[in-house]
Amino acid sequence: MEVNSTLFQFLLIELIPSIIESSKSQNLSDNQINLKLELLGFKLGNKFNEIILFKLNESFTKNETKVNLLDIMKFICKDFWKFVFQKQINNLKTNNRGTFILIDVNFKLFDNLNSNSLQFDNYINYYLNFTNGILRGILHNFGYNCNVNNDVNFPSVNFNIETQ
Ligand SMILES: *[C@@H]1O[C@H](CO)[C@@H](O)[C@H](O)[C@H]1NC(C)=O
Ligand SMILES: *[C@@H]1O[C@H](CO)[C@@H](O)[C@H](O)[C@H]1NC(C)=O
Ligand SMILES: *[C@@H]1O[C@H](CO)[C@@H](O)[C@H](O)[C@H]1NC(C)=O
Ligand SMILES: *[C@@H]1O[C@H](CO)[C@@H](O)[C@H](O)[C@H]1NC(C)=O
Repeated sequence: MEVNSTLFQFLLIELIPSIIESSKSQNLSDNQINLKLELLGFKLGNKFNEIILFKLNESFTKNETKVNLLDIMKFICKDFWKFVFQKQINNLKTNNRGTFILIDVNFKLFDNLNSNSLQFDNYINYYLNFTNGILRGILHNFGYNCNVNNDVNFPSVNFNIETQ
């Protein structure tokens, strides 16, 4: 099965904005739109992860029952981010007790945002909820549950991942 990066680009650049627009025209609340995008991200992360792993077939050994959390984070920061956003995460920090901070100093999905728009903050939340969902989906697929939240210093974002 061929999954290429172009498909993902289409998804991010075309599909997500159109989902947001159609949700707005159905008068969904911001809260509902955020939840919808988070769930969509989760499903994608959960599925695409397997396919990408299969395709990249690098850092992981097949016969481990549970892949090491730090290895997963490194995979996300390098291979996954590059595949989806054409760049790597700039910095990965951890307290070595299950909390990870992924720092992207120039988050790709913000490229489309117009900082003069009245909707600017809403759109930042939409894109981050979607991406947080993807991260949650990937980790879920590896057998880890987590919470993700963000610190934003536009266009830099910290993805704070707390695993349980
Ligand atoms: C959304 O709200 C507007 C303004 O209140 C209304 O005219 C429109 O019919 C609503 N659309 C839907 C799909 O409920
Ligand atoms: C995500 O969605 C929730 C629920 O609407 C909202 O409270 C939050 O501000 C959104 N943004 C982020 C970055 O989590
Ligand atoms: C993964 O890589 C190994 C060694 O590099 C190779 O033998 C194997 O066929 C690969 N598996 C897949 C599914 O590509
Ligand atoms: C994989 O399984 C084989 C056979 O059980 C074992 O010898 C090998 O060390 C395992 N490899 C890893 C990386 O755990």
